[in-house]
Amino acid sequence: MTSTITIDGKTVPFTEGQTIMDAALAAKVYIPHLCHDPEFKPHGSCKLCVVEANGRNVTSCTMPASPDMVVINDTPELNEDRRALVQMLFVEGNHICPACEATGNCQLQAAGYYLRMQSPHFMHFYPPRRVDASHPDIFLDLNRCILCELCVRASRDIDKKNVFGISGRGIDSHLAVNSESGRLGDTDMAVTDKAAHVCPTGAILIKRKGYTVPIGQRIFDQKTLREFHLEQQKRVESEDGPDGG
Ligand code: SF4
Ligand code: FES
Repeated sequence: MTSTITIDGKTVPFTEGQTIMDAALAAKVYIPHLCHDPEFKPHGSCKLCVVEANGRNVTSCTMPASPDMVVINDTPELNEDRRALVQMLFVEGNHICPACEATGNCQLQAAGYYLRMQSPHFMHFYPPRRVDASHPDIFLDLNRCILCELCVRASRDIDKKNVFGISGRGIDSHLAVNSESGRLGDTDMAVTDKAAHVCPTGAILIKRKGYTVPIGQRIFDQKTLREFHLEQQKRVESEDGPDGG
């Protein structure tokens, strides 16, 4: 049965089991996000997608839509909070965009542009982070990891390999590699694995592919994060549809 919610005054239909994010994206209403990907179970870690639903702040990627819910999404206040979250992600890691191979393809960078981030605002942490070049085809640089767990979900749910996990707590949380040595080269991860291609930043890179697409022709040189995510949703919907299998 189809019911409706309203988002910023627009009536949006949803079906049982859909989250606010699912319903919004299907109706082409954009809620900024980083850790959500329509191909994977929602995780609710980045908090960029927080909206006000019936007066309460909730993560729209995990909150089920319910009949007559009133959602507020695109306001200066919520976008300011989202900008602050992106700024915190920048200072909490070591994101050196001009020197990063993923520049122009990075969703964190694109979120900064989308939310009109002018500076990191907060003091940089400069945390010591590990770089792992042990795999013949895949490079892992934890300096750029935003703990979205997309690689964890892809490796566990699609590749069925459990190559990645999260270790530590709070400020010490970090991406861990499930091998005795803790090195990627000692896992059975393959360059064809889904987990090798889901990272929204430059934390997981494919070796010998850097700069094959020149700067100026990369994803976010051509489109905004909003356009990218709405296209991603459309692609997943068509793959899931009757003709997509
Ligand atoms: S390596 Fe990439 S995909 Fe994995 S948790 Fe970090 S940012 Fe997310
Ligand atoms: S997209 Fe909802 S918490 Fe990250």
